[in-house]
Amino acid sequence: MNILILGGGGREHSLAWAVKQNPKCDRLIVAPGNAGTAMLAECADLDVLDAAAVVTFAEENTVDFVIVGPEAPLAAGVADALKAAGIKTFGPSAAAARLEASKAFTKEICDACGAPTAGYARFTDKAAAVAYVKTEGAPIVVKADGLAAGKGVIVAMTVEEALAGLDDIFGGAFGAAGAEVVIEEFMEGEEASLFILSDGTDVLPVGSAQDHKRVGDGDTGPNTGGMGAYSPAPVLTDAILSQAMEEIVKPTIAEMARRGTPFQGVLYAGLMIKDGRARLVEYNVRFGDPEAQVLMMRLGAQAFDLIQACAEGRLATVKANWADDHALTVVMAAEGYPGSYLKGSQIRGLAELPEDSSHMVFHAGTAERNGAIIATGGRVLNVTGRGETLAEARARAYAMVDRIDWPGGFCRRDIGWRALPQP
Ligand code: AMP
Ligand code: GLY
Repeated sequence: MNILILGGGGREHSLAWAVKQNPKCDRLIVAPGNAGTAMLAECADLDVLDAAAVVTFAEENTVDFVIVGPEAPLAAGVADALKAAGIKTFGPSAAAARLEASKAFTKEICDACGAPTAGYARFTDKAAAVAYVKTEGAPIVVKADGLAAGKGVIVAMTVEEALAGLDDIFGGAFGAAGAEVVIEEFMEGEEASLFILSDGTDVLPVGSAQDHKRVGDGDTGPNTGGMGAYSPAPVLTDAILSQAMEEIVKPTIAEMARRGTPFQGVLYAGLMIKDGRARLVEYNVRFGDPEAQVLMMRLGAQAFDLIQACAEGRLATVKANWADDHALTVVMAAEGYPGSYLKGSQIRGLAELPEDSSHMVFHAGTAERNGAIIATGGRVLNVTGRGETLAEARARAYAMVDRIDWPGGFCRRDIGWRALPQP
């Protein structure tokens, strides 16, 4: 098969790495890709938000199957356009992608199907939102309704912070994404992410993970897209997993189908766990980044069989084969990230690292120039280890980190701290 992956981050490199190992894969193209995907696939310079251009490219290159990595093309209807053109595609319709693209929509679905989540209220009027915050008090969570690249959520410990958040959102800091605001009850607990494939009817969990959102050791400093992750998430016990599937995931999938907008793709459920129960924090409609890197490291070649069965409505006929293993990834970022960061610094030592089913460096913001690997983004490398224990996976990942010669980069030294005693 000729397979096209849309996206250019660490998530897409890990997807490409897994797909490439599957014997069904003949030709593999990643658009736009990065220096890492260029080592195992063709890279194509394509605007992945331009649905017509993506369809034309897929037709011209006799692509049999498309995997959409990020949320923006999904929300823009790229999967709809590909499916309408008769090209098999993994990823939800724009209508189903609203589970990520609108926080108010997700709350509406939770109400309709009874899924446990934080109490909330919705506002399009700033004065009413301000009055609500003053009545409810802090801690409280203020969210721009739409896609805001992970920056539209203010977890406010004081009323002042919440009001400042409302000023930003209603002041236009997030553009149209802030036309509506969702204000939520602050939930305490431990967060974990659950990834579920759905073909619109059936569901198949494909792993759990925990990430580290803050830039600094000990979960300090500003929020980022994620500085590391590990899988499985020990906090997600079998009992909590089945509660989350029965009370949250299955009712959501059924409600989406009932509305005539079935969800086909990977549903990423962000969960808050407390006292042995999970509540929904949010949905994403794609694999997480860097969570995909640890999931793909554990799934390997079978990932494509599962993704294909999902897109073809055959999920009930397949199952995921799990080894009793663990994976951990450490994100290396450019100095300054998540603020303005240095671009163009050279990374050395990657070619000398082991590359096998227990060791892999997935690239994110990298490019190749005259044989050298150059950092071009904020999050740049995902140094990933797999092992029989989480401690072994972590040791493998950090042993690789220590051999990478990149003075312009940094990473957290404590990925996995919740699940492991620190060395
Ligand atoms: P979201 O984009 O909705 O996942 O929010 C980003 C992060 O904000 C989450 O991963 C949580 O850490 C935090 N968060 C969001 N909603 C809540 C809530 N209701 N209570 C506590 N923390 C929350
Ligand atoms: N790592 C968080 C996300 O992909 O949304």
